[in-house]
Amino acid sequence: MYDFTVTAASKSELYRDLAAALDSLTADEPDAIANMANAAALIWQYLPDLNWAGFYRNLNGELVLGPFQGKAACIRIPFRKGVCGAAAATRETQLVEDVHAFPGHIACDAASRSELVVPIMHQGELLAVLDLDSPSPARFDAGDAAGCEALARILAPRLVNS
Ligand code: SME
Repeated sequence: MYDFTVTAASKSELYRDLAAALDSLTADEPDAIANMANAAALIWQYLPDLNWAGFYRNLNGELVLGPFQGKAACIRIPFRKGVCGAAAATRETQLVEDVHAFPGHIACDAASRSELVVPIMHQGELLAVLDLDSPSPARFDAGDAAGCEALARILAPRLVNS
């Protein structure tokens, strides 16, 4: 059993503690799927107000569903389609306050109202994207983007083997 202390006093403390928990959970494990699975579980447990949290892997230029928490989701997403595709194509974090206003948004769960997608890069290659959905409009801000980018940096070298 794992027992982490994650403080929710402020967003920066929350992400700091989440990063420490993710680091200790994945440090000694080389398997990419295991690390993505535990990362999704950790994010789901500690970040409030989410209805989906997980990964799409870059398999030969197509995003393929990876470990996640939430409702069953779209399996394959082409680059440039939806919010995940935009993150994959641009390799830049996508922070979408209102998914209904995002051209091409893919509604895997009709409850989703806002979304944050962070590319996970390693040695110049896109390995995967981390996708968080919320039922609340404008749930994510720059602090969440920075916090999730820090999680992505911890994970990246630990997603190389699968
Ligand atoms: N909404 C995403 C698709 C993935 S699901 O949210 C899990 C998108 O537009 O890329």
